[in-house]
Amino acid sequence: MAQTWTPNSWRQKPIQQVPDYPDLAALESVEARLSKYPPLVFAGEARRLKHALANVAEGRGFLLQGGDCAESFAEHGADTIRDFFRAFLQMAVVLTFGAQQPVVKVGRIAGQFAKPRSSGIEKQGDVTLPSYRGDIINGIEFTEEARVPNPERQIMAYRQSAATLNLLRAFAMGGYANLENVHQWMLGFVKDSPQAERYRKLADRISETMDFMKAIGITAENHPSLRETDFFTSHEALLLGYEQALTRVDSTSGDWYATSGHMIWIGDRTRQPDHAHVEYCRGIKNPIGLKCGPSLTADGLLELIDLLNPANEAGRLTLICRFGHDKVAEHLPRLIRAVEREGKKVVWSCDPMHGNTITLNNYKTRPFERILSEVESFFQIHRAEGTHPGGIHIEMTGNDVTECTGGARALSGDDLADRYHTHCDPRLNADQALELAFLLAERMKGGRDEKKMVVNG
Ligand code: TRP
Ligand code: MN
Repeated sequence: MAQTWTPNSWRQKPIQQVPDYPDLAALESVEARLSKYPPLVFAGEARRLKHALANVAEGRGFLLQGGDCAESFAEHGADTIRDFFRAFLQMAVVLTFGAQQPVVKVGRIAGQFAKPRSSGIEKQGDVTLPSYRGDIINGIEFTEEARVPNPERQIMAYRQSAATLNLLRAFAMGGYANLENVHQWMLGFVKDSPQAERYRKLADRISETMDFMKAIGITAENHPSLRETDFFTSHEALLLGYEQALTRVDSTSGDWYATSGHMIWIGDRTRQPDHAHVEYCRGIKNPIGLKCGPSLTADGLLELIDLLNPANEAGRLTLICRFGHDKVAEHLPRLIRAVEREGKKVVWSCDPMHGNTITLNNYKTRPFERILSEVESFFQIHRAEGTHPGGIHIEMTGNDVTECTGGARALSGDDLADRYHTHCDPRLNADQALELAFLLAERMKGGRDEKKMVVNG
């Protein structure tokens, strides 16, 4: 069935969402340079993530995946990375402690630069220009110069990814993620929010537990798992020339790996089974995500599962469902039933962002209630089907932005203009992200207690 795969076999296939580079020689030269640069991640790390996700697929653990819709060159700085990581750690600790399950931590970061667009052109007044496709391809400014795809941007994206990953590794392994710091992860602007009190209480209980453990000789010094955390990176593998240049053979296994990030995913717009993005992803051994939207049929999904995970290996494939709060009940059950019927091993993750985007006062926004509602339905449906609601995929930032309406601070349509900074889709701010984490922890705990009752009863 499957033809021979090579890192460039995708070039033989039809492809969607490709930028129109005017200077192909310059593009080739950039790809040749990138193919000699050091990998950003190692195969062994990707395998470690796959093992962690295999546990999630089998019902033990939860995947927390989140970050910017699109990273930008302009916002590249230590404070942005640190604030994101703090918000992310807070969510992770709320989920781990609240739900008493291991949390697999995957950022949409250090490579999340390329964006699929619904239209290739953007019109403002009488002027029509190519659409912005992410900082790795062109510039967001509405000028002709900025919108021309420039291959040199790939080198900049690679360097920014390396620097971002370097800081994240330092934070994850170098002491910042130490559970003894659980109080310090509170961000300034969250301190007086309704979530702050809840978080403080939870952090107090963790500190108390840590003190108890210290008294009996278990400390962060002699137990690295208290002071370190595994943090992985992910992005949409959209710009395949860039991905190919960073595709390398792992010397220990002889297998091909994408080394641009630990996990990559295929978008809802580029998941045609006979097209280039599926072709590229089927040949690499990393954990893969597949975005599933309303147009995906059960048979279409099974075909993609066979292409992307022919050995039915747990942890290889995460289905990231993005239906919309009012459509999830219609679409999720039929996909779950097909996957269950065929005995396919997958992680079910919920992306409650992309199906819930609306326009308000000329801003793209997402009402927080709809995000919560899709998450609630996702949990209820999995409970009803007897499957594991394995994860969440969100667009979030550690910055105090006003991009999604609602939440405990009740951001309104009029507030959007205050701090609307995203380069693409609206993100949860740290406050809203923490609120979502508390809700998730409650739902996960509910499911656990229910299971216990079944076992005991
Ligand atoms: N190593 C464990 C884990 O990653 C515990 C841990 C350490 C942790 N630092 C953390 C958990 C920060 C959440 C957040 O799960
Ligand atoms: Mn997005």
